[in-house]
Amino acid sequence: MRPYDLIKKKRDGIELSEEELTFFITKYLSNEIPEHQMSAFLMAVYFSGMSDAETTTLTNLMLSSGSRVDLSDISAPRVDKHSTGGVGDKTSIILAPLMAAMNVKVPMIAGRGLGHTGGTIDKLESIPNFRTNLSIEEFKKNVKDIGLAIISPTDKIAPADQRLYALRDMTATVESIPLIAASIMSKKLSEGIAGLVLDIKFGKGAFMKTVSDARRLAGIMVNIGNSMGVKTVAVITDMNQPLGKTIGNGLEIKECISALRGKMPDDLKELVLTLGAWMVYVADCVTEEVQISKLPEHVVIKYKSELMDFIEKGDAFKKFVEFIDAQHGDPEVAFKPNMISSAGKVKQVKVAGKGYIQALDAEKAGIAAMLLGAGRRLDSAGRQKAEDEIDHSAGIVLNKRVGDYISPDEPIAMFHYNDATYIKEAEDEFLSGVQLGEIPPDRRALIIDVII
Ligand code: URA
Repeated sequence: MRPYDLIKKKRDGIELSEEELTFFITKYLSNEIPEHQMSAFLMAVYFSGMSDAETTTLTNLMLSSGSRVDLSDISAPRVDKHSTGGVGDKTSIILAPLMAAMNVKVPMIAGRGLGHTGGTIDKLESIPNFRTNLSIEEFKKNVKDIGLAIISPTDKIAPADQRLYALRDMTATVESIPLIAASIMSKKLSEGIAGLVLDIKFGKGAFMKTVSDARRLAGIMVNIGNSMGVKTVAVITDMNQPLGKTIGNGLEIKECISALRGKMPDDLKELVLTLGAWMVYVADCVTEEVQISKLPEHVVIKYKSELMDFIEKGDAFKKFVEFIDAQHGDPEVAFKPNMISSAGKVKQVKVAGKGYIQALDAEKAGIAAMLLGAGRRLDSAGRQKAEDEIDHSAGIVLNKRVGDYISPDEPIAMFHYNDATYIKEAEDEFLSGVQLGEIPPDRRALIIDVII
């Protein structure tokens, strides 16, 4: 077997056998296939796609590139949630302590920012001293003792994803249904969970631009999860405008702290409570073996009000404090969010006209935040900048949302930054995604569907 022939086959849309895929992935992981051939292979997958059988094989290969965490000695339900990537999406950092407060254990392996989207790991690393590279023993201990842990992929867990994720980010091959499905599911199936809720995003700020692509991705991931014994539910959600009020790592952690104290913008609250309700469902389901095809609306409402109680009583906030402490961060941050470093400069961003905001393009807002320093830009040679080049204090605070009225004297957003090199590009990019109109736009639903 030659790597060249397999790349050519995939390029020409021919399905690869289990044996061929196994050869390609294992030889890459043992450094016998170089990065340029894997890059070409990823691009071939991007254009030609993969069958469900190939996607499942790829997931299994990536999963078995590392070990699976064994949490079977924990009797409480173990569930996780993962999103396909969004802008301003900080729900994992609110949901993990919230679930732990309800005695649902959350062992979470999260990712860094990818393209214009943010990553849970980068956000958490804006907390002074916080560590996301815990050993597996520490990860297990924290899940057992306090109910949650959030770590980055390691050499031991899903190492294939760690390498492919970085390569996809540099080769414009992120937006591929089989590659996203295998990336996320290989990480999630390594965690020792029994239930999983997926937030499958579509729209301008998402990797899936249409609802139909989001449904396809959801269907594949739900099948992979369920077939491997993890009760999996996918919620399809709109990512056309940024979620919540902030984009950028430290700013988003500050928004999470307010959220855990009960103060959340409506869209963030709606998504946190909906995903939370489904996490409770998969948690209940794994213990009670409830078999229903849809969660009745009155049950969702009941779960949502229980979740809100755990926030309002302060239990979720208390778990967040324990969580920071257990991952070596400074827990004082939860009480004094200003300990998270702030950017040296703040610029008001204003629109030229006036009217009701019809669109606030999430992808353009994500790129603008990246240009301010919040994400990893590619350098002029197309290489990804190192992790420590992220400016955790940079980002955007949104003063207005779609549907709000704006006049030229009001700032639509505040840009927080230290490095002004790309400030003009960031402003142009952001403003090119704002559309105004004379009448308020129709309200768009945030939650579109649930696939079980
Ligand atoms: N999140 C992941 O973990 N992987 C992807 O491919 C996209 C989003």
